[in-house]
This record gives sequence, structure tokens and C-alpha cells, in this order.
Amino acid sequence: MTFIHISKPWQIPESKLTSEKAYFNRRRFIKSIIGASIGGSILTTTGCQKSSSQTALEATLDTPKLKPVRTNPTFTESELDRPLTNNLVAGQYNNFYEFGGNKRIWMNAQNLPTEDWQVKVTGLVKKPRNYDLDDIKKRFSLEERNYRFRCVEAWSMALPWIGFPMKAIIEDVEPTSKAKFVKFSSFYDPEITTGPTLHFGSLPWPYTESLSIEEMANELAFFAVGIYGKELPKQHGAPIRAVLPWKYGFKGAKSIVKIEFVETQPATFWHTTVPNEYDYIANVNPDKPHPRWSQASEKFIGESSEIAWVRKQTLPYNGYGEFVASLYS
Ligand code: MTE
Repeated sequence: MTFIHISKPWQIPESKLTSEKAYFNRRRFIKSIIGASIGGSILTTTGCQKSSSQTALEATLDTPKLKPVRTNPTFTESELDRPLTNNLVAGQYNNFYEFGGNKRIWMNAQNLPTEDWQVKVTGLVKKPRNYDLDDIKKRFSLEERNYRFRCVEAWSMALPWIGFPMKAIIEDVEPTSKAKFVKFSSFYDPEITTGPTLHFGSLPWPYTESLSIEEMANELAFFAVGIYGKELPKQHGAPIRAVLPWKYGFKGAKSIVKIEFVETQPATFWHTTVPNEYDYIANVNPDKPHPRWSQASEKFIGESSEIAWVRKQTLPYNGYGEFVASLYS
């Protein structure tokens, strides 16, 4: 098989993508036609000089390149109805409560220790496993998938993940017939993950999430170990996280250390903390408003190097109904 390698936009320096003049004109243009900025980016430049925080941010995203992998033909960039989100924006606008209660956790998240990472797969399985990251990369064949990503806070992105389908783990560990749900637990160490416990009172750490076995076996359910052609940066949930594009983003636990197969629906982090705001199923649904955000539309954060958005109609199941609607009929 011949591999034709086409460079992705994030593999090309910004200077080669757009001339400086066009870049600034485009910024002015984008600012004039789209809605307000939702936070202000650190990517403010004077002339051609980068701010020191931009350099620091870029360093956090400069993780080792993953070997080129095939893009799953069903999830190519051209199959998306929108451009990919700018990698520098995606890497500075995150939710990772273990490291802070706002979007700007990228610097704090660098305290996450990812060396010698182990993922324990346990519970109702015939073959319990303890994978290290090399095991995972060797055992499961990696591919790229461009997915829409929708947060319950009504902002959205489009992101090029690299990883493998969750069902590969099911096949590897062979859950018993008693296993009906799976529970994911994120890394937690109160000395390191010093998030906003005071603001919320006591939180049920570690961060946990869960799916039914049928959801986990669905074609879309994905474990990501990379993004934008490289290993996952810490702020995105290095070294391995869940990506579930038909559900709100909070279902996708970051920095997973344990995968447990269980018989009954487990308690999960946000559902336990604020049950009327974060339901267990959490499928993207424009007709089901959240108490704080109407879900009818979303703010899509796209290719601009500013944190800026365009308003889009929310799609049921985030546009992935053909894959998952039958799970809920
Ligand atoms: N996983 C952990 N462990 N901790 C978190 O706070 N936030 C969730 C999800 N996974 C979260 C998490 C939420 S609310 C969202 S929207 C996504 O991660 C954000 O992923 P991103 O920062 O890579 O865009």
C-alpha cells in the first residue's frame, strides 16, 4: 500500500500558512463578522513578537510526534461540516478541574506526572490487565479521527484525535456476562491535583465517568492518546483519555488510570455533584435545555487563532445519530 503523506495545517508553521498582512487582515475580518470573543486569547502579538506566555503555551503542545497513522475514512477532515479548531486555541481553552476551576489550566496541568503511566483494567472481566502506554500503542492499532466536540457549556470545537476504538479493550479483557457498565477513573493525587475543592465544597474525587457496555462497544467510542499528530498534551488529558463525540464533553474522562467493568450503574463525578445539571446519559440534545445553557445552539470555536466563535445550531447526538441513535430507541 502506498502512503501519500499530506501535511496537516498544524504541521506547517503559521508563517507559511498566511502572510503577516493577510493574517492581521483576517483577524480584523473575523473579529468584525463573528460574535464576541469568549475569553480573550493569549495569542496577542505585537508585530511579529510572540508573548512569553505564547512561547510557554507552544512548549506545552510540543509533545513527541506520533508515527503517521491512517485517518479513518469515515472521520476525515472533509467529512466534518466545519474546519478544525486551531491547535493553539484548543490547547489553552480547557476543562480539567483537577488543575483549576476555569478554562486556563494549561500551565497548572503541566504538574501532571505522566511517566510510567499504567492503566488498570479490572472488575468483571476474564482477563484483567495492567497496560503501560507502550503496551497500549503496540497492542491496539492507532488511527486518526476528526470529531466534532461539544461541551455542555454550549461551546464546541472540531478536533483531530489519534487513538483506538474502545471496543478493542472489550475484546482484549473479555468482560463477563454480568458486566453491564464501565467506569473510568482519572488520575488523582491531592498533592498535585489541587483544583477548586473549596469553591464547590467537597467534590467526589477522583473524576469518574461511565458508559453502558453497549455504548462502550459502539463504533464511535474512542480512547485518545494523541491530538494534532502528536502525543496528548497534559491539558488535553495525557496520556490517555476518553472521547465520546455524541455526548457532552464531561463524559470524556481525562488522564485515565482505571477502567472497571461493573454490574450496576456507577456514581460519576458531575452527576453526583450536580445531578440536575449533569445527567448520566448526557447525549447532545438541542431539545433538552440545561438549567444554565439552552442547548439549541452552540458557539463553535474554529480555525481562528483567537478564541472566537460562530453560532451554530446544535445537532442531535452532535450529528452522530446514524451511529448511536439505535442505542437509545
Ligand atoms: N476529565 C477530568 N479528569 N477532569 C475534568 O475536569 N472535564 C471534562 C472532560 N474531561 C474534565 C475531564 C469536560 S467538562 C470537558 S468539556 C472536556 O474534558 C474538555 O476537554 P479539553 O480540555 O481537552 O477540550
